[in-house]
Amino acid sequence: MDSQGITILGSTGSVGRSTLDVIAQHPNRFHIVALTAHRNIELLAEQCHAFNAGFAVTADPENERALQTALKERGANAQVLSGTEGLEEVVALPETNAVMAAIVGAAGLRSSLHAARSGKRLLLANKESMVIAGELFAQTASENNGVIIPVDSEHNALFQALPERFNGDLEACGVEQLILTASGGPFLDTPDAELADITPEQACDHPNWDMGRKISVDSATLVNKGLEVIEAKWLFNARPDQIKVVIHPQSIVHSMVAYRDGSVIAQLGMPDMRTPIAHALAWPARIEAGVQRLHLPDLSRLEFRQPDLQRFPGLKLAYSALAAGGNAPVILNAANECAVQAFLDRRIRFTDIPVLIEQSLQMAAWQQIHELDDVLEADRTGRELAQQEIQSMEHNNA
Ligand SMILES: NC(=O)c1ccc[n+]([C@@H]2O[C@H](COP(=O)([O-])OP(=O)(O)OC[C@H]3O[C@@H](n4cnc5c(N)ncnc54)[C@H](OP(=O)(O)O)[C@@H]3O)[C@@H](O)[C@H]2O)c1
Repeated sequence: MDSQGITILGSTGSVGRSTLDVIAQHPNRFHIVALTAHRNIELLAEQCHAFNAGFAVTADPENERALQTALKERGANAQVLSGTEGLEEVVALPETNAVMAAIVGAAGLRSSLHAARSGKRLLLANKESMVIAGELFAQTASENNGVIIPVDSEHNALFQALPERFNGDLEACGVEQLILTASGGPFLDTPDAELADITPEQACDHPNWDMGRKISVDSATLVNKGLEVIEAKWLFNARPDQIKVVIHPQSIVHSMVAYRDGSVIAQLGMPDMRTPIAHALAWPARIEAGVQRLHLPDLSRLEFRQPDLQRFPGLKLAYSALAAGGNAPVILNAANECAVQAFLDRRIRFTDIPVLIEQSLQMAAWQQIHELDDVLEADRTGRELAQQEIQSMEHNNA
């Protein structure tokens, strides 16, 4: 088969690096067209050199010259581009067959959407863009014959457990429920009284997964699972009542599909993102991912419990935002991104995160979303409201 040209948006991040790890194992199957980063110019230049990338893009135009210098120092020949235009240019290149969308947060929206618009195979890790613009993604991909393959481990598991002929009609396929598993994060059993004093270091120390800082905090608050519920709605055309969440602390069962006849089909594997990444890269083929194999006798027990929505209200807030529709998921996501950053910067407490999301949702006027500009406007509003709340929380906490 012909070698597939891959562009990775966010190659310096956790998912980006794991993607390069899988690609390195299959030099005849894949080659790198373009790699992108925000500010980690040294690593980007190193990756471009190692994978002989045709293009290197920094999302921050201020870093363009530094990137040119870093590439030159390594003898790498990649052409340098920058900004949103640079990201959009590389995803649309004819030599790009598939785009790994692994930028963190709403910052990944435009480039991921442009990949769908260009009819590329979109390997979607950047869940926030699906949360805030799911309908636009679904429409854009179908109008341009684009394929979206979920990389988020839970959605990739659902994709694997759904029938191959799945055409967006869960009822017709006999599906009753999509069951997302959640590890519960590092504070699943932490006493309530200790939650307020949790530090960024503790929150980023996930028991099973090695991930970027933002998603690690999202996992600890369960907001991540809430974002995934919204993501599942758009990826699989599911009603909110068809999407359930179950806590599974071992992170071995990555998600399940429950069918009308009582069957539940699960996808299992070690908690290693290289499995869903390899699956998405090669689908429908299966390739080596370099992951440790599951050794079933070592799994003394697989535990499942109901999520505690009182202790971790982030999940409940996401279901409410999904039910409200319109700009609510965009406000939720924007407020969460601001809150997580403020927590990582030690400006607010861990327990302030859901409070801040709820307040931002309450303050924002409900609006319909018709097009990309509406999403961008709602995103700005959500950030403004959240920043006001952060300032008043800082003041009260001082
Ligand atoms: N990590 C996981 O295991 C995992 C699992 C499932 C889903 N996901 C999802 O995958 C996405 C990436 O997560 P991650 O953990 O890999 O994040 P990460 O380690 O923080 O990496 C983020 C990447 O995005 C780039 N970036 C940051 N801000 C940007 C901006 N404003 N414009 C353009 N690029 C920007 C970063 O570049 P610099 O390095 O230059 O800052 C980096 O390459 C997230 O949406 C996350 O929810 C991650």
